[in-house]
Amino acid sequence: MSAKPFPDRMKAVVLDSYTGAQALRLEERPVPKPGQDQVLVKVAASPINPSDLSFIHGLYGFQKPLPVVPGMEGSGTVVAAGSGLMARYLQGKRVACVSQSRGDGVWAEYALIASNSVLPLDSSVSLEQGAMSVVNPLTAVALLTIAEQGGHKAIVNTAAAGALGQMINRLGLSQGIRVINIVRREAQVDLLKQQGATDVLNSSSSDFAQQLRDLCHQYRVRLAFDAISGPMTVQLLDAMPPHSRVTIYGGFSLEAAPVWPGQVIFEDKAVDGFWLSAWMGEHNLLQNLLIWRRAQKLLPTVLRSEIRARYPLEAAAKALADYQDTMTGGKVLLVPAAEDPPLE
Ligand SMILES: NC(=O)c1ccc[n+]([C@@H]2O[C@H](COP(=O)([O-])OP(=O)(O)OC[C@H]3O[C@@H](n4cnc5c(N)ncnc54)[C@H](OP(=O)(O)O)[C@@H]3O)[C@@H](O)[C@H]2O)c1
Repeated sequence: MSAKPFPDRMKAVVLDSYTGAQALRLEERPVPKPGQDQVLVKVAASPINPSDLSFIHGLYGFQKPLPVVPGMEGSGTVVAAGSGLMARYLQGKRVACVSQSRGDGVWAEYALIASNSVLPLDSSVSLEQGAMSVVNPLTAVALLTIAEQGGHKAIVNTAAAGALGQMINRLGLSQGIRVINIVRREAQVDLLKQQGATDVLNSSSSDFAQQLRDLCHQYRVRLAFDAISGPMTVQLLDAMPPHSRVTIYGGFSLEAAPVWPGQVIFEDKAVDGFWLSAWMGEHNLLQNLLIWRRAQKLLPTVLRSEIRARYPLEAAAKALADYQDTMTGGKVLLVPAAEDPPLE
């Protein structure tokens, strides 16, 4: 009889209350068994994303019963499959995976994932890049698609020096859509300019509001993607001409975005939101697979993510502190087998 490809017990990071990193602990627990339409993934790596920070503070789009294993996305190898055609097809494959609104996430040695939330990786994509291949790359594709479908030749994006911001800038350049990047430090201006960005504004500059207004009017920008919300959303609405829209996709400021009645009534300005899960839900399986294939091809270039640090599961709280300390400059990965040879 051949040996089972995984042990009976595993290490997992567990969240006990929605109060942030202080509520995380390492636990040893049984390796779960895949049921109908589920696979068991031996996790190779998982990034800490802003959505993970929101989740552990109870601020994400859903809360799960506690205790729970956090971790929204990751990569690994399918080591066991439950019943179901798709699950069996995935057996043995290198995959990217995302956790669902129910059940445990991927900050563990093994993760149980619904087979429709698992995507096979191209052989050209490393497990580390694969771990960061869903949330940000697909959001970049989605936002540029929205811009393109709306006929926008120029857009604004905030928090532009982050991993997603860099992707949006590079994808915009490659699609001929002008991206006005907003960052908050001078070093971030240099970072984006080195990547070919044509327009980068520093929101800390004293004349930021005027510069933004000038560029928005010069390029007739009527669409802004905003990861900050609060006063930034107000500045974006103020800067753009009538019939403009701010699409909020993140809330770094943790503040509400007040809107002047006159702007929505007389100037036809609007604020709406974007959530990747909802956007993917508007597409059928084939469309989503085509989006995935396109993103995979771009992963080594315009949709790549830099990596700043790797931590084992035992150091999850330290990894979170490191990530929050410096968000620009690359993702912090949780790598369950950090002591093993580098990932392929
Ligand atoms: N809605 C969706 O479906 C969806 C999907 C994917 C991503 N997102 C959102 O996209 C955003 C970017 O994600 P990411 O993975 O690119 O993050 P990231 O790589 O960690 O980068 C975050 C960037 O935002 C900057 N930043 C942080 N707090 C800020 C603040 N209060 N004001 C201005 N800038 C701030 C950071 O600059 P410093 O280094 O100066 O801190 C950094 O450059 C997040 O809000 C995330 O939730 C949303």
